[in-house]
Amino acid sequence: SFEIKLSSTGQVLEIPADKTVIEVLEAHDIEIPFSCESGVCGTCLTRVLEGEPDHRDYFLTEAEKAKNDQFTPCCSRAQSPRLVLDI
Ligand code: FES
Repeated sequence: SFEIKLSSTGQVLEIPADKTVIEVLEAHDIEIPFSCESGVCGTCLTRVLEGEPDHRDYFLTEAEKAKNDQFTPCCSRAQSPRLVLDI
């Protein structure tokens, strides 16, 4: 598991191994746009302010992934213990 921190509110949420970031956000009534939920469409693309995503999508290029400044919360996870998101 890992944590996300929402930059707008400072809220910290735990993402368990069996839930996606989007599922946890929805459980807390935080809605972000999404569509495919499988890393293809890019609709859910979210800015990452701190931390290192574990990119599992097919949308970003390798160069974009390497910058670690955005990720797809429908399927991607984290390599660092915490991601700070621009939400
Ligand atoms: Fe399509 Fe996340 S919803 S990439």
